[in-house]
Amino acid sequence: MKTPIQLKVEISETYATMLNEATSCCEVDCSCGNNAGSLAGYSAEALAQLPEGAVTFGCGNPVALASMQPGETVLDLGSGAGLDCFLATQHVGNTGVVIGVDFTQDMIDRAEENAVKLGLKNVSFKKGDIEDLPLKDATVDVVMSNCVVNLAPDKDAVFREAYRVLSTGGRVMISDIVLTRPATEAEKEDMALMTGCISGSLPVDEYAQIIRNAGFQDVKVERSESDAIWDGQFWYSASISATKKS
Ligand SMILES: C[S@@+](CC[C@H](N)C(=O)[O-])C[C@H]1O[C@@H](n2cnc3c(N)ncnc32)[C@H](O)[C@@H]1O
Repeated sequence: MKTPIQLKVEISETYATMLNEATSCCEVDCSCGNNAGSLAGYSAEALAQLPEGAVTFGCGNPVALASMQPGETVLDLGSGAGLDCFLATQHVGNTGVVIGVDFTQDMIDRAEENAVKLGLKNVSFKKGDIEDLPLKDATVDVVMSNCVVNLAPDKDAVFREAYRVLSTGGRVMISDIVLTRPATEAEKEDMALMTGCISGSLPVDEYAQIIRNAGFQDVKVERSESDAIWDGQFWYSASISATKKS
């Protein structure tokens, strides 16, 4: 059984490798959930405005969920090559700010290169662990994330941190893989399933309870309609939302 630190190193190395093998959106099987490219649901118009290196490794489209408003501050947990951050800038406008946090240096470098190509001044990327965010308390309006929380060994810490950095009234809008049953020990030890965003996740009720335990209200976990489930599949892509009310 790997320690949380060993797991994080393996996850980071895996995603650096995947990034360096991908040159355009979903040219490789850039899925966390093996079919995430088809789950992502980005509009062709939105993607057409982005540079080639803005690949997605996500399993949904949290930007569409977030109903972001001009002037808001948005934080993307596990921002990868920056695609969701760039889309978020289209919603928050010049008066808003988008911050991506990722612990893989190659992802940060790629995201920063892409921001320069796009000429964006209101997006920045910080290297950091989503279990210990490099942000001050109550400084964010929206926490979004796309297929990342499943990879975190300490999901309680992720949602405690999200709660801490959100202002009152702030909301969480996440796309992630959830399970229909707990992963077996063998599945958790299977590094392809783990880094592929499946066996590190939790059954839907357990996932929702962790969010409630962090203090969030109005917690909703809804299956993404576009996600076809085949025989034997014990996971699906979900849209997860919650609000910090006090
Ligand atoms: C499946 S990819 C998703 C990337 C991006 N959200 C997207 O949709 O393309 C997972 C990303 O999360 C990052 N990641 C995983 N665990 C993390 C953690 N504990 N803290 C920060 N980043 C993490 C990885 O480096 C990788 O870039």
